[in-house]
Amino acid sequence: MSTLEAREFTEEQEALVVKSWNAMKKNSAELGFKFFLKVFEIAPSAQKLFSFLKDSKVPLEQNPKLKTHAVTVFVMTCESAVQLRKAGKVTVRESNLKKLGASHFRVGVVDEHFEVVKYALLETIKEALPEIWSPAMKEAWSEAYDQLVAAIKSEMKPSA
Ligand code: HEM
Repeated sequence: MSTLEAREFTEEQEALVVKSWNAMKKNSAELGFKFFLKVFEIAPSAQKLFSFLKDSKVPLEQNPKLKTHAVTVFVMTCESAVQLRKAGKVTVRESNLKKLGASHFRVGVVDEHFEVVKYALLETIKEALPEIWSPAMKEAWSEAYDQLVAAIKSEMKPSA
């Protein structure tokens, strides 16, 4: 069973995540596309999960909804870091978490997808901020992402 108990998340780790997100925010559209293009490079079949990509004639990088999801993953991971430091756990509003769990379950997201998205997220940050990227920054984003995903997975079951 996966546990939602947080390992300790320090103030320094929170600061690393917040600082790097602040440095990337202004380019979030471009970075969002890069992020998900990486995901689809590694796992082309993941495109099928997105209803707005399946039926779309628009090239991937012109699809505004793709950016929205990518930026959501960034922002929620950043919020997760803040909460981990403050509360020692991820506190996405109960109703939102249930919705997130149910929607990802419904479209067929599996563990491997979360792994690919994690890898692509870390690569995107590394490429965006080569001058401040560090093992500690990687670890902080990884932990914030893993804890958020653990919370989502705990609600990945058919909605009642
Ligand atoms: C939808 C967030 C990871 C695929 C959504 C939505 C949010 C979201 C907020 C909108 C619907 C809702 O509120 O439930 C996140 C976060 C993630 C994550 C925070 C990780 C921390 C993933 C992964 C995949 C994925 C790993 C698969 C590669 C999708 C798909 C939809 C969706 C296919 C439905 C889009 C549509 O067709 O409208 N996600 N997501 N997500 N997500 Fe994620």
